[in-house]
Amino acid sequence: MTNKPTVVTCGLPYTNGLCHLGHLRTYIPGDFYVRYLRRLGDDIVFICGSDNHGTPIVVTAETEHTTPRAVSEHYHAHFDEVFKSMGIRFDRFGMTDDSTNHNRTTSILKTLIEKGYVYEKTIQQSYCPNCKRFLPDRYVEGTCPYCGKHARGDECDQGCGRHLEPGEILDPVCATCGTKAELREQKHFYFKLSEFRDYLLEYLPTLKGTINARNYAIGWVENELTDWCITRMMDWGVKFPSPDAEGLVCYVWVDAPIGYISFTEEWAAATGGSWQKYWCEGDRVHFIGSDIIYHHCVFWPAMLHGAGYQPPSAVVASGMVTIDGQKFSKSRGYVVWTKEDYLEKGLPADYLRYYLLAYTSHTRELDFSWKEFQARINNELVNTFGNFANRSMTLVKTKFGDVPDVPVAQEIFDEIAKTLASVEEAVRAYEFKAAVDGILLLAGYGNSYISNAAPWKLIKEDPAAAAAVLKNCLQIVKACALLIQPVMPDSAQRLWAMLGYADDIESHPIADALVPFENRTLGEIYPLFARIEDKQREDLEATLAKRAIEAQNKAAGKNTMSEEVKVEIEPFSEEIISIDDVAKLDLRVGLVVKAEKVPKTEKLLRLQVDVGTEVRQIVSGIALSYTPEEMVGKKIIVVVNLKPAKFRGEESNGMLFAAGESASLLVPLLDVAPGTKVH
Ligand code: 2FM
Ligand code: ZN
Repeated sequence: MTNKPTVVTCGLPYTNGLCHLGHLRTYIPGDFYVRYLRRLGDDIVFICGSDNHGTPIVVTAETEHTTPRAVSEHYHAHFDEVFKSMGIRFDRFGMTDDSTNHNRTTSILKTLIEKGYVYEKTIQQSYCPNCKRFLPDRYVEGTCPYCGKHARGDECDQGCGRHLEPGEILDPVCATCGTKAELREQKHFYFKLSEFRDYLLEYLPTLKGTINARNYAIGWVENELTDWCITRMMDWGVKFPSPDAEGLVCYVWVDAPIGYISFTEEWAAATGGSWQKYWCEGDRVHFIGSDIIYHHCVFWPAMLHGAGYQPPSAVVASGMVTIDGQKFSKSRGYVVWTKEDYLEKGLPADYLRYYLLAYTSHTRELDFSWKEFQARINNELVNTFGNFANRSMTLVKTKFGDVPDVPVAQEIFDEIAKTLASVEEAVRAYEFKAAVDGILLLAGYGNSYISNAAPWKLIKEDPAAAAAVLKNCLQIVKACALLIQPVMPDSAQRLWAMLGYADDIESHPIADALVPFENRTLGEIYPLFARIEDKQREDLEATLAKRAIEAQNKAAGKNTMSEEVKVEIEPFSEEIISIDDVAKLDLRVGLVVKAEKVPKTEKLLRLQVDVGTEVRQIVSGIALSYTPEEMVGKKIIVVVNLKPAKFRGEESNGMLFAAGESASLLVPLLDVAPGTKVH
């Protein structure tokens, strides 16, 4: 335990979009860290909120014909709800547009102005002659002067990732109407960041957290440190506190991090706590994504130091998230929405918490795929952790009734003590994967121990020895429950109840893992984790694939294929059928979401086709005409009421239509949703 009170914060999500898996890479480790350290006895306040200012929110409000405040409140409520559903529990989740933050930002800016750290400067700013307005940040697009890539506003988000100052972007065009921007003079306020170079070079090597944050920041400060424009010409934001600042608000990256302080003040006001205890005396730990290291390790400490506040003690920067190896991209459809794609599919929050923590080290890129997700959950949680706990408790219950009244062996306590030490060390070093691996290792140890000791056999010859083995196992299960609680709070609580405890597991310190398991009656035992079945995984993959296909079709402005049709005229059928015969065929539009060759066949493709209500497997002899890659994304016509059949052992549940030797597929010409009936 450390005695220093600590405020832990997570980067504030902007309120102009929904929560996706990329967000969770910051919040879940932050929540885990707080939960774990609290159960070691640390005094922590956990703070977050939504980031309401900045141009993207104004742009969204303009598009939706509403106000930036209304947009912010909508997404604020969304994030609040999703975080709660994911077990992410902030002590305060505030809004940067609330009065506490306006006041704290004004106060800090006034101090910086009084201390001479702010000056006025007239600059050339992009102006759209068509929209008749200045173009701050996201209102302007152009070329990054550093890497030459296309850049938007204040950030080269598709290239080198650098922060861009107003007027820096090359060949600026208006992001709203595409008109070439003119440069016009505008008065702004600058923060003398360059004066903080020596301070930052002295401070940054002492900054704790992950090494990526420290190293990037030192690199930047050593290379260049130019003064920073901290105002924007717009209405939405915190009014810049100077009589000469007509029409200017402060730049969003000024008031957003100040939100960390303001929300702590709000928490203190609501609970009778002291925000100064954390901000003036204790430690300040920021969990962020690695794309905002510059803002947290350069702007923010300089601003705090200049205004007489303590700088961050640690910055913990997570690596980015990729989806199926693809860069996360909303526009290309490579995105997993937390609510729609995960929670609303009935998946437990604990599984995703586990995956995000255990997948890879915190600073590395994390690839998400449903296949890997399924494998991890089934192998590690179901087969190792859950299986060990279940086997141990079921055997005790069926063979002995109550927990055997025998002592726990010293070697078991030694193993648990070793785990407690290594997990604590890993958590404090921000090595979350190593921490979770350490817990799973203990479960693995338990699994091997019970398999080798085989109490189900031993009981026949030596019931006392079997009782001793099972008591040891229960001690390990108890330790596993206590240790895994910060990772998977819900599962740990259920396991706790199975072990026969009626209270809240969270009220117990981690160290209780070494308190001998008391003789008691176990609760109801049932499998702790449910497997993810292949069918479920395929459905989840289909949703993702469908989104990517739709996004790509939208971007390409097409939804049909353009294969040339080869006409072969066969004699028409002589049999005349009635309209009722035709009506018997239930024809629907299907979207191919996955396609594979059927092994050891020349012509067969195995397709997964979204027919609106479900994903069907259809086997079709079109492999000589289409590669699996070509098939993915095609919208085809499918008979959905055909009796299932098997081809080369593969079930086919439906049939598609293709014309001629070349098997030219029948496809809808206009965009129609999967499941649409063909008349
Ligand atoms: O990059 C972002 O999503 C910002 N909204 C993060 C702000 S964090 C803090 F500084 F407020
Ligand atoms: Zn760039």
